[in-house]
Amino acid sequence: MAISFDRENGIFKLDTINTTYVFKLDPNGRLAHLYYGERIGAANLNDLYRPQLRSFCPYPEGLDPLASPDMLPQEFAGFGAGDYRVASVIVRNADGDDVTDPRYAAHKIFRGKPALDGLPATFGGNADTLEVTMTDRKTGMDFILLFSVFDDADVVARSVRAVNRGDRPVRLRKLASCTLDFASGDLDFIHLWGTHTRERCFERREMLHGIQKISSQRGLSSHQHSPNFAVAERSATESSGLVWGVEFVYSGNFAIETERDQFDALRTQTGIDPETFEWLLEPGESFQAPEALLAASTDGLDGMSLRFHDAIRNHLLRSVWKDRKRPILVNNWEATYFNFNTGKLLDIARDAAELGIEMLVLDDGWFGRRDIDNNSLGDWFVYEKKLPGGLGHLVSEVNKLGLKFGLWFEPEMVSRDSELFRAHPDWCLQIPGRTRSEGRWQLVLDFSRGEVVDYIFKEMCAVLDSANIEYIKWDANRHLTEVSSVVLPPERRKEVFHRYMLGVYRLHEMLIARYPELLIEGCSGGGGRFDAGMLYYVPQIWTSDNSDAIERLKIQYSTSLFFPCSTMGAHVSDVPNHQTGRTTPFFTRGVVAMAGTFGYELDLNKMTEDERTMIRTQVAEYHKFNPLVAGGDLHRLTSPFDDPHQTIWMTVAKDKSEFLLNYVQSRVLPCGPQLSVRLRGIDEKRTYVNSADGKKYSGEFLMKAGFPLPPFSWNSDGESMRFHFTEEK
Ligand code: GLA
Repeated sequence: MAISFDRENGIFKLDTINTTYVFKLDPNGRLAHLYYGERIGAANLNDLYRPQLRSFCPYPEGLDPLASPDMLPQEFAGFGAGDYRVASVIVRNADGDDVTDPRYAAHKIFRGKPALDGLPATFGGNADTLEVTMTDRKTGMDFILLFSVFDDADVVARSVRAVNRGDRPVRLRKLASCTLDFASGDLDFIHLWGTHTRERCFERREMLHGIQKISSQRGLSSHQHSPNFAVAERSATESSGLVWGVEFVYSGNFAIETERDQFDALRTQTGIDPETFEWLLEPGESFQAPEALLAASTDGLDGMSLRFHDAIRNHLLRSVWKDRKRPILVNNWEATYFNFNTGKLLDIARDAAELGIEMLVLDDGWFGRRDIDNNSLGDWFVYEKKLPGGLGHLVSEVNKLGLKFGLWFEPEMVSRDSELFRAHPDWCLQIPGRTRSEGRWQLVLDFSRGEVVDYIFKEMCAVLDSANIEYIKWDANRHLTEVSSVVLPPERRKEVFHRYMLGVYRLHEMLIARYPELLIEGCSGGGGRFDAGMLYYVPQIWTSDNSDAIERLKIQYSTSLFFPCSTMGAHVSDVPNHQTGRTTPFFTRGVVAMAGTFGYELDLNKMTEDERTMIRTQVAEYHKFNPLVAGGDLHRLTSPFDDPHQTIWMTVAKDKSEFLLNYVQSRVLPCGPQLSVRLRGIDEKRTYVNSADGKKYSGEFLMKAGFPLPPFSWNSDGESMRFHFTEEK
């Protein structure tokens, strides 16, 4: 068992392949966090428990004054009972106070990992789980904490369920999924903020005193903040130093709270955003909080990312597509926007087939009477004016060309100008007596209602059954406002945000059950819902509506901190780029898109002969390199946030037999230095051959002296190079 309990000292120890996580049951029934870091064998871990008498730290009446919860690093912290720091749980009891004081009641350790009802979560039989039950004696509330570790991964998965075992109703006001405390807060905080077309900007700063919060109250994990973060030693770098990461496996409102406290210690909380949440629990009812994944590494950010990537690839992605090479697609959005018909689509498909592209994806505008974006969402029937003969005809023609076919949906939304809205005006989120806010002229369906989700499922099935549709792009192009449901009683209205998310997850479940082979790409105005929760249902997510290769260097760099390349939707698009007006060489656009799922987002009918030749080459390269990119170890060698001139990254095969090195010169530095780049993750003892010129290098040389990057023959912005090295046999 990778989990042990030392009865004498009350110590729980969880081991992953390379890390150890330790906490202690203290004499007052609290779980004192002791250690999370590189793996430790037998040691006197009890020495890490250091209770101390400190002024103004309350302790329970009649008990040892050393026992103040206010200075104890904890796994699950109560509220209003002596710990003034940001709480893990707050329950308003029937008497009207919020004091919550969870104490240990029982634990068990078992093989396997339970699924979380209605929620995404990591899975796999090769896991051990520790279940600790904490009880609040006054209310009779139980909090069931799960900690799981896998035999073949370096993450700890945590979650918690609250059960009302009392005889009166309570209101759950907060239930964080993961509390991670640190003895010293002299650390850096790393998180990703952003906006539409500029998702996940990297920000690193000194951990500040007091409470800092990163959150989404938009109903989706959002472009604005990502539901994941890292804490790093101040000196930690991309490749060295101790870094801890937390990923929230959830796609709705979240809060990441950090508090560097009076003693310079640090508490972090990750969970559903408490400000927009409340849940009524009648006696006997329970609430399951989502999962959080934790990783720690002394190999810097790179090490943390590798651990998350492997855990996500092996234990979170569940689509049958997770390890399959995804079809190279061409999406018509930037090629035609709303202006297409069957003829135009078939023209694109003919070129696609000739060039070796494998799937045509029809984006927005195929349904209702949608020529612009202010109508028809919810009317999931074919717009015959554009597609006479319907999807059946179009798809069979596309299939005849040897191409698969994919289709865009926006299942959660409804246009005010739609048949669906006219028939069911009460089906959208709204508060009677308040003006509804619109976004992109659309409203949000009340997915907290079962019948709304069932209706959309039925409509989607009718479309999916009408033709051979092998892929869908699931979009969500606005955030939630006036969040309430007309069918819920007032005391349950603050449940709607989470109930909405459960509805989204249920629709995914139903689709997967009925169409297990369907490849689904997540999307929300680009990467506005790029989170670990979604990846349980979809193996890939459109990373950003910004398809400019140079901008994508940043977006993909920071997305890769927490997510593997195989999950990042990336396409070669037209120039001048539609979002930035920038012109980037075709080759570079291919290099950047090949760091993701790969495809095209341009009008193939307008390509020059040179461009057509380059597409053929890229298609061949994709087939050659994709298994390495999707399944290998990514190492970010430079950061586009630190270095405006070049971005360099590599992917190494798991057996270290080959690697791909990518070098993009985002901005020329005239007469700049002659660069060598020190490689990572290869075998020092092997010899590697550069496939381009047959030159041989020892692994040791490449890692210590670095690979001498040749100068560009045409030294301009956006030029790039790619090198494929294979082990000398
Ligand atoms: C969103 C998506 C785009 C495209 C449009 C269509 O913005 O991110 O890729 O599908 O919607 O309206």
